[in-house]
Amino acid sequence: MSDTNPTNAPIRTDAPVVPTGGDSVQDLHRAHMAQMNDPVMLTADGVDDTAVDEPGAGGADSVQSMHDVLMREQAEPRDGFEPVPFWVAVVCGALLMWGGFYVGSNSADFRADVYDEPNPVATPVAGPVTDPDPQTVEELKAIGGRKYNAICAACHLPEGLGKPAENIPPLDGSNWVTGDQSSPARLSRIVLYGLKGNIEVKSPQVPRTAWGAAAMPPHADQLKDYEIAGVLTYVRNSWSNKADPDDKKPAITAATVRAARAKDGKRDSVTAAELQEKFPKDYADPPAPKK
Ligand code: HEC
Repeated sequence: MSDTNPTNAPIRTDAPVVPTGGDSVQDLHRAHMAQMNDPVMLTADGVDDTAVDEPGAGGADSVQSMHDVLMREQAEPRDGFEPVPFWVAVVCGALLMWGGFYVGSNSADFRADVYDEPNPVATPVAGPVTDPDPQTVEELKAIGGRKYNAICAACHLPEGLGKPAENIPPLDGSNWVTGDQSSPARLSRIVLYGLKGNIEVKSPQVPRTAWGAAAMPPHADQLKDYEIAGVLTYVRNSWSNKADPDDKKPAITAATVRAARAKDGKRDSVTAAELQEKFPKDYADPPAPKK
């Protein structure tokens, strides 16, 4: 229904408009009333229910009924550019200002270090890492065997026979490894600080005894105390060597090397003569506390 204006409804003109009776005011009005209440002129449902309708009757097609219908039918909403209600503009403006203020005061300049998720798992603070301190020949040999083959074997060979052609003496059967010149304090220093100068090495496996044309490098920075103890225990108990008969009582442990390190600190390579002079065979360094 696009047009609710009742005045546009088709008008039937077959009802008498011209007064037929008297021409008094009342008669003239009666005729108009009859037409206004004519059922065909305005029907709510479009049905010409003529039977009910008599001039002046207040039936379904009466003026009042027709008005009821019209009142019920509200004007349809129409498209258009309605002005934005003032309160909507105010609320939107306030929200925009609040949002701007919120971002401005909480964005922290959008810095990555602010927005990156912190690691939820607390990084464990690296505490003092304690080195292992093996106390059996078996454990020390296991550690030392790996280190020996990685470092010492390059010169002394995996079989501990040395390289006479390169003036590298043997360890297998050496009297400095297990024998009359062997001591924990001397061996610790040879590996810690290296060895240079003339040395007489006696070994049943290698006929040559005089060495000194080559020098052995220090390993103090490369190997930890327990690793040097391991490497020495390994060479002292490998091949034909058997220096530690009691597996529970290795002659050299990390404490031995630690004591030598603490006594001598950083220093040059040792010589065989110095070892013999300063460190008699039964010499032992004063125990050094663990760091
Ligand atoms: C770069 C070669 C080289 C490496 C690596 C090396 N040595 Fe030596 N080593 C020598 C030389 C050369 C001598 C003899 C030095 C001299 O004549 O004064 C020697 C001497 C020794 C001696 C005393 C002499 C003997 O034959 O008994 C021992 C013990 C020893 N080395 C053990 C080791 C151990 C254990 C390692 C591994 C941690 C090692 N060496 C790594 C070259 C090396």
